[in-house]
Amino acid sequence: MADQQDLMELAKRRGFFFGSNGAYGGTAGFYTFGPEGASLKHNVEAAWRDQFTLRLGNDEIEAPTIMPEAVFEASGHLDGFDDMLVECAECGASHRADHLIEDAVDDIEDAEAVGIERVGELIEKHDLACPACGASLAGEPVEDFNLMFETSIGPGSGQPGYMRPETAQGIFVEFPRLKEYARGQLPFGVTQIGTAYRNEISPRRGIIRVREFTQAELEQFIDPEEDEPPLAEVDDVEVTLYPATEQNAEDGAYIETTIGEAVEEGIIGSPWVAYFLGIAQGWYERVGVDMDRFRFRQHLSGERAHYAADCWDAESEIGGNWIEIAGFAYRGDYDLTKHGEHSEDRFTVFKRYDEPITVEKAVVDPDMSALGPEFGGAAAGIAEALQELAERNPDAFDEEEVTVEANGEEYTVDTEIANFAIEEQTESGEHITPHVVEPSFGVGRTVYTLLEHGYSEDEVDGETRSYLSLAPEIAPTNVAVFPLVSNDDALVEVATDVSRTLRQAGISVFYDDSGSIGRRYRRQDEVGTPFCVTVDQDGLEGDSENTVTLRERDSAAQIRIPVADLEAELEAIFSGEQTFGALRGRHGDVETDVTTA
Ligand code: GAP
Repeated sequence: MADQQDLMELAKRRGFFFGSNGAYGGTAGFYTFGPEGASLKHNVEAAWRDQFTLRLGNDEIEAPTIMPEAVFEASGHLDGFDDMLVECAECGASHRADHLIEDAVDDIEDAEAVGIERVGELIEKHDLACPACGASLAGEPVEDFNLMFETSIGPGSGQPGYMRPETAQGIFVEFPRLKEYARGQLPFGVTQIGTAYRNEISPRRGIIRVREFTQAELEQFIDPEEDEPPLAEVDDVEVTLYPATEQNAEDGAYIETTIGEAVEEGIIGSPWVAYFLGIAQGWYERVGVDMDRFRFRQHLSGERAHYAADCWDAESEIGGNWIEIAGFAYRGDYDLTKHGEHSEDRFTVFKRYDEPITVEKAVVDPDMSALGPEFGGAAAGIAEALQELAERNPDAFDEEEVTVEANGEEYTVDTEIANFAIEEQTESGEHITPHVVEPSFGVGRTVYTLLEHGYSEDEVDGETRSYLSLAPEIAPTNVAVFPLVSNDDALVEVATDVSRTLRQAGISVFYDDSGSIGRRYRRQDEVGTPFCVTVDQDGLEGDSENTVTLRERDSAAQIRIPVADLEAELEAIFSGEQTFGALRGRHGDVETDVTTA
């Protein structure tokens, strides 16, 4: 397992990521992905897009990251997107109150779930000290702190706006247009990969908890009454589940099962959530997460976000702790209903019946020549209120008079004036509010997991080396190409040709001719390059075809193969048609290691 310190040091030294704005003292919670990290991150995003957009047949959008206040009033983020803050009276440091409890109290894994009052009591009971200065925090108020970054749209005092705390809202607010592109047909899914911002109280652990990060989200819009996921595709996928019931039980344990069984036994309530857990399990395996250090954990009731009816997290084990790397929430009709209520647009779809149906409808046809003279300017409002009453409580019209409220006033109207009737009407469908199921992935946390799970050390040529065992699809560079020495024109020419040919085949190549060959191998091992190709004099001697050595990162084994075969053999490995082991079997290891030659 990687030592956290070693990994952070490697991340910085090799250009994966480092704290931003170092020249100005650094800014907590902001990280820059260096050349290797940016490439790794883009590859993770591309693999996500391939699975969750292309293979699932969804559409991708790109929405602005700043949105007006009204959006977050509707979404509930203004009111409910808070973390628990406690400030030290002595040194002024701010802390996540629930995290202090989790760090100090053995049997509490998720203090958010116990509520803000209890967290305050627990700080007092355990007399917790400020991690920064050691002063007691007992008695300090624990307060809700809204995590959104506020800004102002336009000059002057402008219009209040916020940096989006989740990419999802950019999809929800555009639902009235997105449903048109989907021709009003459910189910359909919309994805987005983009930046989200949260003013975290205490950012920590490198890129795991930061204030600006990338999310990859899918909003799946469904008709809850009719749409079912293609569960058969993931029925047999094996998963490790940690449901809420097991977390609450004294001797609670993981459940090793399949997606199909978990749905059948009701362990996962929503088949749609189960479907996405199955898809995600395969995806995490594909990109190289160590599945022995991976689980799906259900949220406890106090832990769920304000919009979620049920939620499961994908969690990876990092340095002995479990961290959430993705959430799979059943958001129901919460978001679309709220945006429908707060805006002028329609957040529903029209669901056509198989056959038109005839329904009885209570209607009124108020006599305005009587209502007008009697109630003056209030007459139109009264007419509307009568129709509402007819739909809500038709029996009210059995009486001689009905009372309705319009513009805050009560009015009593002769029932005869209302002209109440029950009419038969033909309806071809109804407007329904779709439900939303949301797989939401943190890209940075996935990147960190891949680095942690891929980090290994072993002995090669009597020296300890560290290497990153990254999947070829994800590794920042596919192949490194070296001339054994840089002052031999023939070697440089062949190495340059090999680089060009591989690049033209779409393989990413790093060309390096500086330093000892051993150091060049170590450098590529540390950035996770799966293969190194070295052009040496032995391969160019004689009349036979030119050969090069091909070295695999994890085994450090080297084989010699003809230059002419290199592109095809590598492509076969990258596409999964063959393994390096099989190639090694055909060619045999080189007898003289060029590192030591
Ligand atoms: N739209 C749903 C949503 O935003 P979330 O669980 O709050 O759900 C989704 O966030 C994912 O985003 C998390 O699983 C995590 O991977 C990532 N994430 C959340 N906050 C983060 C932070 N402060 N730093 C890095 N990644 C974060």
